[in-house]
Amino acid sequence: MCGIVGYVGSKSVVPILLDGLKKLEYRGYDSAGVAVIEKSKILVVKSVGKIAKLEEKIDAYTPEGNIGIGHTRWATHGRPSDINSHPHMDCTGKFAVVHNGIIENYLELKEWLESEGHEFVSETDTEVLPHLIEHFYRGNLEETVREVAKKLDGSYAMVVMAKKEPGKLVAARKDSPLVVGLGQGEYFLASDIPATLAHTRDNYIINDGEIVVITKKGIKVTDMEGHEVKKEVFHVEWDAIAAEKGGYPHFMLKEIYEQPKVIRETFSSRLSEDNKEVILKELSLTPNEIKNLHNIFIVACGTAYHAGMVGEYVIEELARIPVTVDIASEFRYRKPIIGKGDLVIVISQSGETADTLAALRESKKAGAKVLAVTNVVSSSVAREADDVLYTWAGPEIAVASTKAYSTQLIAMFLIGIYFAQVRGTIDKAYAEQLITEMRELPDKADTILEDMAGLESFLKKYAECQNTFFIGRGLDYAVAMEGCLKLKEISYMHAEAYAAGELKHGTLALIEDGVPVVALATQMDLYDKIVSNIKEVKARDAQVIGVTFKGNEELKKVVDHVVYIPKTERLLAPVLTVIPLQLLAYHIAVARGCDVDKPRNLAKSVTVE
Ligand code: M6R
Repeated sequence: MCGIVGYVGSKSVVPILLDGLKKLEYRGYDSAGVAVIEKSKILVVKSVGKIAKLEEKIDAYTPEGNIGIGHTRWATHGRPSDINSHPHMDCTGKFAVVHNGIIENYLELKEWLESEGHEFVSETDTEVLPHLIEHFYRGNLEETVREVAKKLDGSYAMVVMAKKEPGKLVAARKDSPLVVGLGQGEYFLASDIPATLAHTRDNYIINDGEIVVITKKGIKVTDMEGHEVKKEVFHVEWDAIAAEKGGYPHFMLKEIYEQPKVIRETFSSRLSEDNKEVILKELSLTPNEIKNLHNIFIVACGTAYHAGMVGEYVIEELARIPVTVDIASEFRYRKPIIGKGDLVIVISQSGETADTLAALRESKKAGAKVLAVTNVVSSSVAREADDVLYTWAGPEIAVASTKAYSTQLIAMFLIGIYFAQVRGTIDKAYAEQLITEMRELPDKADTILEDMAGLESFLKKYAECQNTFFIGRGLDYAVAMEGCLKLKEISYMHAEAYAAGELKHGTLALIEDGVPVVALATQMDLYDKIVSNIKEVKARDAQVIGVTFKGNEELKKVVDHVVYIPKTERLLAPVLTVIPLQLLAYHIAVARGCDVDKPRNLAKSVTVE
């Protein structure tokens, strides 16, 4: 995800900004830039690529000054390029802005600003910010930022500088982290604590709806109405490594906890204003093409394949098109019958997985259209597909995929609902109900994360086991596959996932006294069936952990322990069901002393066959 650094003080600002940006490199980025006020002019230097490339440009001319802002960008809107890098400026060069997050209503704002004569140079959502500030500025930057913030939908941490107010930085936050580092006669702004840790351990954590003004003399924090907010100092005890992980012991845990936010970011700009419809503006597939699709093939590897399994159920059920899901390394060699009129959806977090890319190329060669669902802007998969639907999970650092998976699930729902709308296979009321439930998922995911915080010792107790089984039916089977992979890859414990109805065809022979079985029971249309399967393993003395919706008092009568998740619509349940499984895998891996973020023999991006 993007990183922000800002500084006001007496020291030379450029080294402070560059050092702060380097401390944020671990988050992943594709370009970087700085803006400095030098002799009442704003100077901007930015470059695609690593910070070293930015430094080369700066070496040619280092702006002098004691106030500045810096940014590392991880592309969302617009490919990585010099122009799309931050800071962005207005038409007059009087304002510079860095921004993290996504401005969801930027297209609307951009059209309006263009009609008012503003000229845009980049493809980013961020660029609306300096133009809005230019438009509304009447001599008071703080007031202008407050006014502009009220016009924005989406998420932001932004820092703004104005040529006419050269001793000041103004920042605002909504749904994207922002901290102020408190020094002696100097203040820092940053998206994350590691950026300022070398200078101070005392911080203000800025909350949603707060506006910050820093000058050399001090700091003022106000709310959206301009009332002053009293902040408490947050003293950081962590070392630099712990700070990179936001205080979490591992990136994987941090990424599990980021899920509510990234789920929201992935769906929110793809809904109509009244939240009654899904709109996928990024697709070039015409309604006619969608109506006349013969078959959909979903192709991916590992966790992305498991998201595809959910996609198969969801898209087929909603849009009434035959959907087949395939593992990319199989699909590319099995001579599938595809051609014109078929759609291949490739799913890949990195967008660089060799087998997935090869499957994409085979599909195009055969005449099918390809839609990529990926997390990395301008990745190979994104560049070569006909259409791209980005998941906005931000960089995933842990090898085990968590937040990318949940955003891939959201992408599957968006495609399913959108295709169903276009094909007329969903009635309006049901589409609205699904969208309403989808919008509630981030809060429900938060509730699970809060409830599960106390379950660590319970989850750890399974660390000594030799074998574990995951069972489920329908969509629960797809999630069982993902929960099982998580456990195997990070804890090295042997685990198997089964469609629960298959147990009696062989696997039941492996069930014996004390073997843990995780049984997912969220697909209520198949509830009686899964309960029968649970009884089959209980009769062989398995230890069963059930996962079901709150309010289901029946399940605890047949299992040893129940994990409750908030109730949601059947099709959306995988987004919530997977969270306890991710945490189970995580806590077992920690208890077994495994290298959670970098499991043995595995790489984050598999670019070889
Ligand atoms: O980058 P991709 O989504 O294409 O990667 C596919 C798999 O390699 C990946 O999902 C892998 O299975 C994860 N490490 C699982 O956590």
